[in-house]
Order: sequence, then C-alpha cells, then structure tokens
Amino acid sequence: MHAPAMRSVGIVTLASILLVPFTLAIPIVDQFLAPGGYRRGANMMAVPLGGRLTHVGSDIHVMSANGTVVHIATPKPLGSPTATAVSPEQTGWITYASWLNNLGVPIGSFGTNWIVPPVPASQHGQTIFLFNSIEPGTFDGIMQPVLQYGPSAAGGGAFWAVATWYLLQDQTFFTTPVKVNPGQNLRGALSLVGSSGTTFNYHAGFTNVAGTELDINGSPQLEWATLTLEAYGVTAASDYPLGSTAFTSVGLELENGARPAISWSTVNDAPDGLSTTINVGGSVNAVVTIKY
Ligand SMILES: *[C@@H]1O[C@H](CO)[C@@H](O)[C@H](O)[C@H]1NC(C)=O
Repeated sequence: MHAPAMRSVGIVTLASILLVPFTLAIPIVDQFLAPGGYRRGANMMAVPLGGRLTHVGSDIHVMSANGTVVHIATPKPLGSPTATAVSPEQTGWITYASWLNNLGVPIGSFGTNWIVPPVPASQHGQTIFLFNSIEPGTFDGIMQPVLQYGPSAAGGGAFWAVATWYLLQDQTFFTTPVKVNPGQNLRGALSLVGSSGTTFNYHAGFTNVAGTELDINGSPQLEWATLTLEAYGVTAASDYPLGSTAFTSVGLELENGARPAISWSTVNDAPDGLSTTINVGGSVNAVVTIKY
C-alpha cells in the first residue's frame, strides 16, 4: 500500500534475523527496526530499568540504576543529516504535525494524551509507531515516548506496547516495551530538566505507564516538536487501526514558562488517505487528529 514502507521492509525482515543461527555461512544483514528506520543492531541498546544516558565528551554512557556504566556508545553521523527526520520516503514517517522552535528560548516541556487504538484488522508483519517527539534542529536525533504495534528492535509483536527511545546519529537506546491495551489512556511527556551551556538534560516517558521513564544528560538542544504516525510493512489499509487517533491536551511550554503561539505544520499521505488535522492549534490544550 505504501511504497516507502515496502522499500524499507525489503532490506530484511526482523523475523529472519531473529531466527537465523549465527553460525550460518551466509552474510547476515545486521539491521533492526527503530522509529526512524532500519539501523545496525550493534548500535542499539536497552537502557536498564531505572538507568540513564549521559553524554561524556563524544560518547554516550549507558548507566544502570546504581550508576554503573554498562555500555559506552560513540555516535557517528548516519550520512545525510536531514534524512532522519524530514524525509518520509526514507524513514516511514507517514503523516505528522510539527513545529520548529526558533524563538531563542528552549522547549521546556511537551506532552500529549492519546488512547491506544484498536488492534488492526489484518496482520502482515507491519509495524506502527505513534508518538510525540522532540529533535535537534539538525534532525540527526530524537527523543520520543512511542506507542508501537508489531515488532521492533526493542521487542513487541502483534500487540500494542510502549517504550521511550533516544536516538542520536547512528546510536539507538530504548526502554523495555510494556504491553498496553486498546482503549487505555496514555500520556507521553518530555521535559527539559536542566542545562549547561549548549548541553541539555531531558526526561521523557509515559507518565501513566511504569517502567517507561528515560533520562538523558548532556544532549544537544531538542528544538523540533512532532506528533507522528510512522509505519513499516503495511500492505493493506486494514493493517492500520480503524478510525483515527486524537492527540489531545497537547501542551508545549518554553523553558521560561511562556506558551508560544504555535502554528502547527502538517504532512499528509493523501494517496493512501492518511492525514493529520489540527483541530485546535497553539500550545495549550491543542488537539491533533491522525486519520488512518
Ligand atoms: C550495579 O549494576 C550492575 C548492572 O546491573 C551490576 O552488575 C552490579 O553488580 C551493580 N553493583 C552494585 C554495587 O550493586
């Protein structure tokens, strides 16, 4: 149904990676699906429950809950710096609303509520991501509380689950997915909790689902806010949930407490009938609906 999604899935299917024994003498493509597209499995890591991420020089340290460094990652550019965020053809971003903060004051918080949709009527191994996110102005990273249906590098399957992700250049970090049910209320929230010069500390997660909180210290400033439907492996309209998903109580506050007069931009997938509508704009109790 959606050409970009089919191209992406052509790289390799997740099931084949998981099932192939490592002794097999054929080349194994080390690619796993994350929001943003397929990425190298070696550069992906689950953050331990209660742990955190900290930028140290040009590295990112993954720390467990007791402060032990369990992994050190060195982010490297992915290539085209703008591909991650702004090119739906490359990434599987189907339809979304966004706002780029150029007001000179950092985003202090960005949150929204939405309801877990019904399970899609048909199963073709598709993966659907629904999230609010903030990204650097260079579009080479993202922090996002993500509702996921289908498989990804973090886990999942033919059910809805939530996890919080931080991606920077070629590195990917996520919390362990927590299963959620259709009809369940979610609140995805991101907040700036500290800053020093050009480095920023963020906290993100689903405020009403335990085990989804993620902290990053020393991040670049996150400046582009989005509400997004992303999908891979969709081969029929019924691979999406029925109806629509409304992001409600959308709130965005600047670090100084100001509420900017946001005019949200939208990107739609008209040929496939997938669209984003701004029902109520602005930064206080905005409402944005994604129609499948
Ligand atoms: C801290 O956490 C790590 C990783 O989970 C564990 O291996 C280590 O034993 C823990 N150290 C202490 C002092 O509890």
